[in-house]
Amino acid sequence: MKQLEVAQQAARTGGAVLQKYFRQSFEVHTKRACDFVTTADVEAEHAIADVIRAVFPDDAILGEENYSSDVSAARLWVVDPLDGTTNFAHGIPHFAVSIGYYEAGEAVCGVILNPARDDVYHAVRGQGAFGNGERLCVADHVSLSESLIGVGFYYDRGAMMEATLASIRDLFGQQIHGIRRFGTASLDLAQVASGMFGAFFEYELSPWDFAAGRLFVEEAGGRITTCRGEALPLAKTSVLASNARLHDSVLSIVERNIV
Ligand code: IPD
Ligand code: CA
Ligand code: CA
Repeated sequence: MKQLEVAQQAARTGGAVLQKYFRQSFEVHTKRACDFVTTADVEAEHAIADVIRAVFPDDAILGEENYSSDVSAARLWVVDPLDGTTNFAHGIPHFAVSIGYYEAGEAVCGVILNPARDDVYHAVRGQGAFGNGERLCVADHVSLSESLIGVGFYYDRGAMMEATLASIRDLFGQQIHGIRRFGTASLDLAQVASGMFGAFFEYELSPWDFAAGRLFVEEAGGRITTCRGEALPLAKTSVLASNARLHDSVLSIVERNIV
């Protein structure tokens, strides 16, 4: 599929820009408290868009930093040039380029690349999800007491953070193996698809954070909804992803605490 090839090439191009700046000195700007954008995000996003536009000049692009197409576009590329900016800014090699390609609002294919580890994930609707060429499959856990759960904290330090902490406490009450906050939503979703996390939730994400990752969860046999159990919109929303079997158990906790 041509779009997958272009997404892979664009992710590699963006990843090379990120690697050029990683652990070097670069400018960090604060978008709002604890939300950063770096020179690397902006340059990587332009480089990614150039690769896409060279092959598909008429397609729409929605990118976190510079491209604001409507999500209802018939052919839409949703780009997070640097997911995990806080990790990147602190020299932690856990960040990603995430690119999802949509037709008429449906995810068709996606690529997530962690350039620091050279881990590359790709997924195509109806054809599966893959990590470094190996087919991905969600965990077969049926009980929370067998599971490791991923979580994300939105930049909010108020009610949404309190809700997140309340859900973490309630999950520990179900004897989960542990909680992980790795700080890169696209990779968190890939980790649900890989079976490392039984589930992952965050009370607010943007479309570029999960546009590609949602397809990995679905193609690996999992389920992804909002934290109220609704179909996931391509918009700012809460996100709950799981191996499907654990979905209702985690949903009952995250929905109870949502604000
Ligand atoms: C962030 C990361 C993080 C999540 C935040 C996102 P960014 O994206 O995915 O894991 O918790 O809500 O905004 O800002 O690094 O692209
Ligand atoms: Ca992001
Ligand atoms: Ca970003």
